[in-house]
Order: sequence, then C-alpha cells, then structure tokens
Amino acid sequence: MSTQTEHKIALAFEDGITKFIPCGEDQTVADAAYQSKINIPFDCRDGACGTCKAFCESGDFDEGDFVDDAMTQDELDNGFCLPCQAKPRSDMVLQIRTTSVLAKTGPETFNATVTKVGPLSETVFELELEVEDRERLNFLPGQYVNITVPGSEETRSYSFATGPQEDKIAFLIKNTPNGLMTNWLKDVAKVGDKLEFEGPMGSFFLREPLQPVLLLAGGTGLAPVMSIMESLANDELLDVPVRLIYGANTSEDLVRLEDI
Ligand code: FES
Repeated sequence: MSTQTEHKIALAFEDGITKFIPCGEDQTVADAAYQSKINIPFDCRDGACGTCKAFCESGDFDEGDFVDDAMTQDELDNGFCLPCQAKPRSDMVLQIRTTSVLAKTGPETFNATVTKVGPLSETVFELELEVEDRERLNFLPGQYVNITVPGSEETRSYSFATGPQEDKIAFLIKNTPNGLMTNWLKDVAKVGDKLEFEGPMGSFFLREPLQPVLLLAGGTGLAPVMSIMESLANDELLDVPVRLIYGANTSEDLVRLEDI
C-alpha cells in the first residue's frame, strides 16, 4: 500500500479562476495537472525551455533539475519554479501564466441550500449556505464566487466570509436599495431555498505570512477578511501577529464583532 504523501496544489490562472489538484511528493506538478485534465503550459517537460515557469505564492517544493536558460538560480530564490520539474513538499499555490480557458478548464458550478438568511444591520445581510458535494469546493481565504440570483439569470459576486475548512459557507451582502439580490434577500429568501454559484475566483487571497499581518476592511469588505482571519486562527503554521482595521459608515453598521 502506498504511503505517499499527497498535497493540494492551487493553480491560479490569469483570468482569476483557481483550480485545485492533488499531487504526490513523487510526482511533478505538471504530471498531476495532466492527470486532472488541466493543460498548464509546457513544452520540453525536461527543465530546458522555461515554458512552464510559474510563480509559487506559497508552499515548499523540490525544484528538480533544470538549466539556466529555463530558470536562473535567482528566479528560483525569488519564488519561481518549473512545474515540469517541481515536486511538492507541502500544499502550494502557483500562478499559472495562461487563462483557465486555454488550459481547457474553468470555474465549477455548485448547488447549495440556504441555512440562514437575514439582516445583520440596516446595511448588511448574512447568507449562509450548505453546499452539495462540499468536499469538491476548495478555495483560498479571500476568494469569491458568482451567485445566480434565484428567479433570474443574473449573477452577483460575493467573497466567502468563512474559512475554507468550515462545513457551511457564508457571505456578507450589502443592502443595495432595489438591488436584485437585495430584493430577493428582503422579500423572498428563506431557509431551505436552493441556489447555484460558480467559482472559486480571484487573486486576492492569503499568502503565507512571514511577517505580522495588517488587515484593512470597510463595510461588507469584511467578508474576505473574516475568511482570512479564520484561516490565520485555525492554522498553527500561520503563527504571526494580526491586526485588523475595520471601518463602517456608522457604528450600527459594524457586524460580526463577536466573531472578530
Ligand atoms: Fe520546458 Fe518545463 S516545460 S522547462
């Protein structure tokens, strides 16, 4: 039986789509992507051309063999890697130099059921969802999804206000007078309603913090910061001092203070 450690690799594409793939320690990231049917750019697959070069936002890897023309030692020291050579030693986040469309992949669609909905203040609604196939939904703290407003074909973008490890997911939604989502939340939405969303997306997410973290949030911009704070609180590897500056128009508009 294999005792091979498997890591989770987040491939962040230029169009904001992120895909997660499993990758064993004896496997290159390019092979793991290929197995997951994602065509990240490569050519020689031998560490010679540099076509696959990607920036590693976080995580550790064995860099493998390569020549200077493909990647210099300086680039390696500054966080670059060659996915055709790199084998993970931890979970990783890689910036891939192409779009998800060219890599023949794209955002995934999820179905969910409303488990909590209501105003947190005059200006902010909270929407909590239970997601079908929750284990299929991986995201980085800070990312967002596009929710299809029930009863319409239009979507609105909202950041997760919960950490990636939580069973349920939640969003903070601004009360926009006469807004499509606001009207649904105010007049129609109830526990048990079904909805659909697509994602995860976005390049605003928590990088491995090496220094004290300063978080700034205003209004419902608190949502991605809540997700980030939950990750910082729950991951003992992310042991850095954290300071939050959180603003709103009035003190009544400050929400989730107990959780903070
Ligand atoms: Fe040529 Fe990776 S594909 S260096």
